[in-house]
Amino acid sequence: MSVEIWSLPLEGPRFEDAIAVYGAAFALPPYSDPDRGREVRQRILDVHSSRDGFRGFIACDEPGGAVVGMIYGYHGKPGQWWHDAVARAVDRDREDRWLSDSYELVEVAVDPAYQGHGVGQRLIAALLQDRPEATCVLSTRTDSRAHQLYRRLGFQVIHMMRFSPNGAPFFVMGRPLPYDVAPAEPAPGHRAALS
Ligand SMILES: CC(C)(COP(=O)(O)OP(=O)(O)OC[C@H]1O[C@@H](n2cnc3c(N)ncnc32)[C@H](O)[C@@H]1OP(=O)(O)O)[C@@H](O)C(=O)NCCC(=O)NCCS
Repeated sequence: MSVEIWSLPLEGPRFEDAIAVYGAAFALPPYSDPDRGREVRQRILDVHSSRDGFRGFIACDEPGGAVVGMIYGYHGKPGQWWHDAVARAVDRDREDRWLSDSYELVEVAVDPAYQGHGVGQRLIAALLQDRPEATCVLSTRTDSRAHQLYRRLGFQVIHMMRFSPNGAPFFVMGRPLPYDVAPAEPAPGHRAALS
């Protein structure tokens, strides 16, 4: 049995399974948002999947097995909500360095039962492989553990900000591309197949 990475389909049972995994991951603290899966499903189909550079991947726990993780991203551009919000918040030097030719890691989630075993790292490597942009950028809540993974993968904090007045604080993080991180080691005691 092995974790395999496949392209994210935009319809059918594997797409719905990927959304269910996403929903389960974001239903837990610190996000605790039971509606987020449904919202992201609509955003992917209505807006994000037609953006330049869109691509997504799923992780399956064996060939043809259950979906245990998903990720997607696209090329960032002025006129996009996240890009403009971050560009307004940072100084001109940081905007030039990090946002002028950037790939956005928009969403990543791993089934809570599979977290901490290298699936997220595998998905990030698949997403960023051979991307031609100068940087990869993302935002993550400061009270989530995800930023530890991103730091380990060479991301640095560019800025800390809120996306709405009463919203949670986020780290905006970035790393230069190309992505050159060695493949994840399997966690001790976990299925070797996750390597
Ligand atoms: C963040 C996430 C995608 C990482 O996937 P993963 O498969 O657990 O990640 P990996 O096993 O490749 O790496 C584990 C690292 O992620 C971090 N991490 C984040 N959440 C974790 C969790 N619930 N369990 C274990 N590690 C977690 C740890 O710091 C760990 O780093 P370390 O190995 O240096 O201690 C996943 O934990 C998840 O879906 N979290 C909820 C949703 C979320 O926060 N998404 C990102 C929003 S920007």
